[in-house]
Amino acid sequence: MEKQAFELFLKQAEALLEEEDCIAGLANCSALIYDFYRDKCSWAGFYFKKGNELVLGPFQGKVACTRIPLHRGVCGKAATTMQTIIVPNVHEFDGHIACDSGSNSEIVVCIIKDGNCLGVIDLDSYQFNAFNEEDALVLEKLSKMIANYLD
Ligand code: SME
Repeated sequence: MEKQAFELFLKQAEALLEEEDCIAGLANCSALIYDFYRDKCSWAGFYFKKGNELVLGPFQGKVACTRIPLHRGVCGKAATTMQTIIVPNVHEFDGHIACDSGSNSEIVVCIIKDGNCLGVIDLDSYQFNAFNEEDALVLEKLSKMIANYLD
């Protein structure tokens, strides 16, 4: 994808995150991600850390798992290691949680504030190997904007 497209995406996110209500801001942000990645994304949204679980936040796509224990799934691993995880083939990822059996690849980016994981951004795809390092970089920039946005 072109650099300008990523820049426009981040500018649009910045504008959406001016909304003072977090649910409204993040709901629109999930729609922006889903639309931006419409060629390959089957699900895009947020999980937020509450105690020992990740709880579903605003998203676009099919009904998804509501709660993910921190020791489970790609999301749990990203949240506990605070690392971006790109999974080219979810069937080869030990512990992957299949909210949608059609999903074949995934990327999860941690939202980090003051050294703590607040939650994750999760994108799924029906395509194998849908997400790359370029996507990781742009989603990490977005996650920093969201970390600043959240109290
Ligand atoms: N696949 C994720 C679960 C969340 S859904 O993809 C929306 C995981 O393994 O953590």
